[in-house]
Amino acid sequence: MKERSIILFSVLIIAIIFLLTLLEKQDAPLQMIDRASGIYALFFIFLAIVSSEYMKQMKKIFGKGFMSIHHFSARIGVLLMLIHPIAFALEERNINVFLPVFYPLKDFLELAGRPAFYLILIAVMAAVYRKKIIRKWKKIHYLNYPAFLMVFVHSWLIGTDLRSEIMQVIWIAMLLVVIGVFVHKHVVLSEGLVFKW
Ligand code: HEM
Ligand code: HEM
Repeated sequence: MKERSIILFSVLIIAIIFLLTLLEKQDAPLQMIDRASGIYALFFIFLAIVSSEYMKQMKKIFGKGFMSIHHFSARIGVLLMLIHPIAFALEERNINVFLPVFYPLKDFLELAGRPAFYLILIAVMAAVYRKKIIRKWKKIHYLNYPAFLMVFVHSWLIGTDLRSEIMQVIWIAMLLVVIGVFVHKHVVLSEGLVFKW
């Protein structure tokens, strides 16, 4: 119960920091939606990734299994992730904003959210249809990791709110946690160096 309150309180505080940062620079409505949906999308995707590290503990902490918590954060994250480029496309009145750009490198990095958008959709579809592609689905689902990294770079380079220092601190903390989850699951555990949490 105590752990649950601490986690929910921390999530709430971070969500409020995002809101205050967004309100600091007011833009046209579509641009506000674009910025807000991008920020909260990455945060919920982050929560889905973190939940995968604590699969066994979820039931004890939240009274619900890993899948309900993972699904809950994934659903909100994906919904917001869909709203984000749609708002931008409406703002620009241009559907081409959905096209990935690979060259030059600067454009690729700034617009890395575009390919990441498709990687996340593919990773999610693999999980949804995992019973039909039993052997390969997990490997496809791992695409969430590079996609997270790409969105990190994308938002860091062009995000209005990522100019704020507190947002930069939260962003770097999220990136380090995601790297930690990946290293723990795929390097430490696979080497047999199992840590007890
Ligand atoms: C944006 C949404 C999602 C993200 C970011 C995400 C991310 C992750 C990550 C990072 C893992 C751990 C993979 C590893 O072992 O390294 C994981 C595991 C898992 N995910 Fe997702 N996921 C998302 C959506 C979904 C959805 C929609 C489903 C089901 C329909 C799902 C089902 C699962 C399952 C069953 C596991 C456990 C795999 C195992 O047994 O190790 N995920 N997810
Ligand atoms: C077709 C795909 C995408 C397009 C066209 C797009 C477009 C944009 C644009 C134009 C901005 C700058 C907004 C501003 O600060 O005014 C931005 C920032 C951002 N995007 Fe994306 N993006 C895409 C994919 C994604 C995805 C998949 C995510 C997350 C899962 C994401 C998360 C973010 C975040 C967090 C910011 C920073 C917002 C801020 O600092 O205010 N983007 N994106």
